[in-house]
Amino acid sequence: MKKIQISPSILSADFSQLGNEIKRLEEGGADLIHVDVMDGHFVPNLTIGPPVIKNLRKYTNLPFDVHLMISPVHEYIEKYAEAGADIITIHPEATENLKASINLIKKFGKKVGVSLNPKTEIKTIIDEIDCIDLILVMSVNPGFGGQKFMPEVIDKIKKLKKIKDENNYKFSIEVDGGINFSNSKIVLEAGADILVSGTTIFKENNGDIKSNIEKLKSI
Ligand code: DX5
Ligand code: ZN
Repeated sequence: MKKIQISPSILSADFSQLGNEIKRLEEGGADLIHVDVMDGHFVPNLTIGPPVIKNLRKYTNLPFDVHLMISPVHEYIEKYAEAGADIITIHPEATENLKASINLIKKFGKKVGVSLNPKTEIKTIIDEIDCIDLILVMSVNPGFGGQKFMPEVIDKIKKLKKIKDENNYKFSIEVDGGINFSNSKIVLEAGADILVSGTTIFKENNGDIKSNIEKLKSI
């Protein structure tokens, strides 16, 4: 039986109560905490940075799955590592040298994530794929929560799963954007290991986080 993990995005949380919201997610059965970092440059939105993450660290021992939608990203990796990130996910378009940025994340003992936007092809990262721990497949264009899932990325998930199985790679496949109760099953069956969700987890069923997480996991 495949182990399905849920990484709720705090982008949809009450930003005035982030510490308590993270505790609610842990109590509700979250496996990781997805922290969407946006700089208003790589994406047209601005969220939180290292000082906030540092302060949130004490609210949970769950892994911080930090999604850096920032560019340039290389110069900031150390700051997010120090702030308490466990997984540092970067976009290949945001670094001049993907291998060097991957090695820098590893140097700080963190897990390496690389994110593919809907239009970014797998071949962009094929040379580095053997040293990546997590591939984050964007099923929306990054920048905002509450967007509509883009079904054309399902084919990319299937291709990644095939590459992973054929080469016995260890990377996890995480899918991020517009995940809800009607598409989670097809995304998991395509090969996803981890689902990111913000709107569905925080807003469905009057915000009953526990039942929303359980429902996303049950396929
Ligand atoms: C978008 C973020 C996603 C998003 C997911 O740029 O990377 O994590 O917040 O939120 P929902 O589940 O609302 O699409
Ligand atoms: Zn994200």
